[in-house]
Amino acid sequence: MFALFVAFLLTAGVSSSDRCETKSPKCTCDVDGLAFDCVGAGLEFDELGLRLDATKANITGNDFPVLSGGFFDRLTALNFLALSGNKITSLGPTLFRHNQNLNQLYLSNNLLTSLPSTLFSMMSQLTLLDCSYNNLTYIDSSLLSGLTNLKRLYLHENQISKIEAAAFRNFSLTLLFLENNRLHTAHWKWIKHFQHQGDGKESFELYFDGNPWSCDCRMARFFSKVQSHSWIPAHAHGSSRSTCDRDCPIELPVCEFPDKLRGKPLLTLGQDDFVCSPPIVTSQNNCTKTPICDVTEMHFDEGVPVVVNCSGRGIPIPLVQIRDDIGRNMTSQNEGHVSVTFPSATIDQAGQYKCVIQGYEDDGKAKIVTQIIKVFVRKTSSPALAVFLTLFILAVATGAGYAFYRFRLKRRAGYGSLGKDPDVHYEATNEPITSQSTPLQTTYSDDDVTNIVQQDEEEFLV
Ligand SMILES: *[C@@H]1O[C@H](CO)[C@@H](O)[C@H](O)[C@H]1NC(C)=O
Ligand SMILES: *[C@@H]1O[C@H](CO)[C@@H](O)[C@H](O)[C@H]1NC(C)=O
Ligand SMILES: *[C@@H]1O[C@H](CO)[C@@H](O)[C@H](O)[C@H]1NC(C)=O
Ligand SMILES: *[C@@H]1O[C@H](CO)[C@@H](O)[C@H](O)[C@H]1NC(C)=O
Ligand SMILES: *[C@@H]1O[C@H](CO)[C@@H](O)[C@H](O)[C@H]1NC(C)=O
Ligand SMILES: *[C@@H]1O[C@H](CO)[C@@H](O)[C@H](O)[C@H]1NC(C)=O
Repeated sequence: MFALFVAFLLTAGVSSSDRCETKSPKCTCDVDGLAFDCVGAGLEFDELGLRLDATKANITGNDFPVLSGGFFDRLTALNFLALSGNKITSLGPTLFRHNQNLNQLYLSNNLLTSLPSTLFSMMSQLTLLDCSYNNLTYIDSSLLSGLTNLKRLYLHENQISKIEAAAFRNFSLTLLFLENNRLHTAHWKWIKHFQHQGDGKESFELYFDGNPWSCDCRMARFFSKVQSHSWIPAHAHGSSRSTCDRDCPIELPVCEFPDKLRGKPLLTLGQDDFVCSPPIVTSQNNCTKTPICDVTEMHFDEGVPVVVNCSGRGIPIPLVQIRDDIGRNMTSQNEGHVSVTFPSATIDQAGQYKCVIQGYEDDGKAKIVTQIIKVFVRKTSSPALAVFLTLFILAVATGAGYAFYRFRLKRRAGYGSLGKDPDVHYEATNEPITSQSTPLQTTYSDDDVTNIVQQDEEEFLV
């Protein structure tokens, strides 16, 4: 398909004398024949065949799930490329390697969940990047680092839960749309080098409503800078949003955490509201001390279900995780609460677990607290039963051996089969049980049984 596409590009670029040099009747072009609109349903990518000196291409509403390296290599004159609404699920890491002249790039309304970190590395001329209406989840610190001239960045309507602090370090924006994502914390470093004033010509507008913001000490500096520069457009909100031109509902960013600030608009808060409180352990795990249990013991019988909890609270909600005695993660890191469940306790699961809770001090420094959870597993099968079972097996085995021996002997002596001789049969199966189990059983008194169980417990605690 790729070879075909290149062939189309070549023929389109070299030969045709049509003003609109494309293979597709669905593409139209402007007066100069350099700006294309290929807006259609169901176009295959290699049906487009744009001329090689095209400068603008608006290719929307088609169906190109995967675009990988090569497609745009020869279209080096492009300065405007719109690939919105094409159901794209993935873009190759070198897709735009020869498109250094791109000034505006629209990737909105696709099905992208991630972008390769080298995708934009050649685009130092880019001033506008629109990745809105996708399913992006994470923006790392290198994805945008080559975009040194970027002014307008649209990341709204995604599932972004984290943008690295250094993600925007190489540029200073005039417009940043982050609405309707899953962001908790806005880093001060995102904007610390932005110098625009709210009333200046090149002012900066920041939209970040529709995220579950945690209004705590980590966002204090961000808030302070945004507030003092009037960067949150508080009135006429929406008039410059790409998503709607007028009559946009006025939505201001509100806090989701902590509980006492839930639903409060950020703009109505003061600097003093952005506080942290250190994490504390709240998981009890059968500890009766209140409110804090740093060390706790849990005792289980072998075979019963075991649940080990790890929970903590604080502002922000701390990240919690359960590790085992040698530091391996038993769970992922989660907000507030995690637990480990063993459906049926075994001796192997006895040991020391650690509930690790990471939060922040009042002054914003990271703080970790832990709860030690000692899990004891008690063997349930009683020694008497074990002895009985052992002897029983022994008896059956000996009996069988004896019977076999007798059988062979009798056959050799010319007797009939063993089954016809009831006396011999009885003797063979019963004799060992009565003769061996009696002395063994007397060696265990009730006290001895308890001692053995306690020894077991100590042995199985690491
Ligand atoms: C591309 O063309 C469509 C249909 O004409 C239009 O709605 C859309 O705004 C264009 N995209 C850009 C980025 O100009
Ligand atoms: C994108 O996110 C939406 C909303 O959460 C979901 O319904 C959809 O399945 C996701 N699509 C992909 C391709 O992940
Ligand atoms: C972006 O910034 C980092 C650190 O400031 C720097 O190392 C890197 O070279 C910059 N990238 C570009 C393309 O300017
Ligand atoms: C673990 O937490 C659950 C609630 O999430 C609670 O019902 C249960 O009693 C806890 N178990 C222990 C041992 O504390
Ligand atoms: C929890 O404590 C109660 C009462 O102290 C005790 O009966 C129970 O066995 C303990 N459970 C575990 C799992 O240690
Ligand atoms: C355990 O989890 C922590 C925090 O999520 C992570 O940093 C660490 O790399 C994990 N360790 C292992 C061995 O997976």
